[in-house]
Amino acid sequence: MTLQLRVYVPPHPLIKHWLAVARDVATPPVLFRSAITELGRWLTYEAAREWLPTMETMVQSPLDSCPATLIDPEVPVAVVPILRAGLGLLEGAQSLLPLASIYHLGLVRNEETLEPTCYLNKLPEKFDPQTRVLITDPMLATGGSIMLAMAELTQRGIDPAMTRIVCVVAAPPALQKLSAAYAGLNVYTATIDEIVNNQGYIVPGLGDAGDRIYGT
Ligand code: URA
Repeated sequence: MTLQLRVYVPPHPLIKHWLAVARDVATPPVLFRSAITELGRWLTYEAAREWLPTMETMVQSPLDSCPATLIDPEVPVAVVPILRAGLGLLEGAQSLLPLASIYHLGLVRNEETLEPTCYLNKLPEKFDPQTRVLITDPMLATGGSIMLAMAELTQRGIDPAMTRIVCVVAAPPALQKLSAAYAGLNVYTATIDEIVNNQGYIVPGLGDAGDRIYGT
């Protein structure tokens, strides 16, 4: 079986609702932040299926013992928010993954060349190869930032097949680059928009996610 990039757009009414709120230019920053937090929560919920490690055990109920499934605490789980905008998705993701380690990665793109550079890297030198990684980055547009993030992670031992990307809007240029480089990777997004304009913005998209989250 050949592995390939899988892109999920979960058909969930809460995801559709919060996406519509986030897209609306009239949404003020405080509500925009809530929308991104909720999208982080529900997309992480979807991404956790068949990814979050579990273990089989027995529990004793008040009436009898029975088989049960728990989250396996031995397998490391990591969330990597891509600063700045990926922080907006972190709160919702963390509410479902309270034991995950958080490794911040600060990337900024040059507005002329659209090439990203890294200004903060809190990744460890090496990851346990079993580590489940969830990357949060709301906008996958040209793919520059997410490709740089994936390169930083895989050179530290992360398996793309154990990696989930949670974003809000994904566009074909980013998805094509990921697909060519990382078989087995899974992307969870609220929507796919077809157009990236000359300034690197997704159309219709939702504008500059970082600016709208932080109001700056
Ligand atoms: N980053 C954003 O914040 N918005 C886009 O449309 C593309 C990249």
